[in-house]
Amino acid sequence: MTAVERVLPLLDPPPAEPDVSRGYLDLLGEEAGPHGTLAQRLMRSGFLPKIYEDLWRPVLFGLSKGPLGPSLDEEYALARDWLDLAAVPDGTVLDVACGPGNITRALAAGMTGHGLVVGIDASSTMLDRAVAETVRPTGRGENGAADVAYVRGDAADLPFSDGVFDAVCCFGGLYLFEDPWTAIDGITRVLKPGGRVVFLTTRRPEIPLVGPGIAALSQLTGIRMFGADDLCQALRARGFTTLRQRAYGLMQFVGGTRD
Ligand SMILES: C[S@@+](CC[C@H](N)C(=O)[O-])C[C@H]1O[C@@H](n2cnc3c(N)ncnc32)[C@H](O)[C@@H]1O
Repeated sequence: MTAVERVLPLLDPPPAEPDVSRGYLDLLGEEAGPHGTLAQRLMRSGFLPKIYEDLWRPVLFGLSKGPLGPSLDEEYALARDWLDLAAVPDGTVLDVACGPGNITRALAAGMTGHGLVVGIDASSTMLDRAVAETVRPTGRGENGAADVAYVRGDAADLPFSDGVFDAVCCFGGLYLFEDPWTAIDGITRVLKPGGRVVFLTTRRPEIPLVGPGIAALSQLTGIRMFGADDLCQALRARGFTTLRQRAYGLMQFVGGTRD
């Protein structure tokens, strides 16, 4: 069974005629995808996916995390650790807003059994890149033993059945969503009880004079700046326990375990 075929039983409802013509399962077809902020339009462009992993991600995330922030490898290690992937070697893991699959592949590399990591994103250009960068896109992942599959779908309306994932990762996505709280509801829904989640998202600096400038930039670009407690509160309200948080510059990692 290919990796994409392993995704079909997780879907609700499964598509009558699955479109896998571009190497990922396309559930949006001609739909343009989520709303048209400047940031969202960039994600859908043909240009950004080409420079995303080598330039955009290291430079912009590096600046946002600040000099004390983790390196990319440390981010990967944090995701695997907070999601406790070692405990679910054959598990199912979802990477929300997977972009070109950089985190998806890193998660798969951290799984030792015959697990499945599913990356979901709304951008066809990002997913084209993800497929091209993933060795054997319909088979085993690049480094680890886990399968890797990609789905084109909306993170705010996850197309999966309830309680099918052992872990969900969402790095660099939540601040782009029109309604991140609905997306968190969906992530909670698709997690198994005891499943873990980890987010990497923005953090609003609490500096009085900088505030209005950040708010204007956020308005212009469509990038939401989350308060330091917003995500922990949202997870607590949805019954998550064992919350963890680490803040670096304008970014924060937040994780928890579903009740
Ligand atoms: C900055 S990239 C993050 C890639 C990767 N997770 C990382 O950490 O480097 C953000 C991705 O979110 C996707 N995205 C934004 N809104 C989305 C939505 N509503 N549903 C699915 N994907 C979305 C964009 O298409 C883009 O590929």
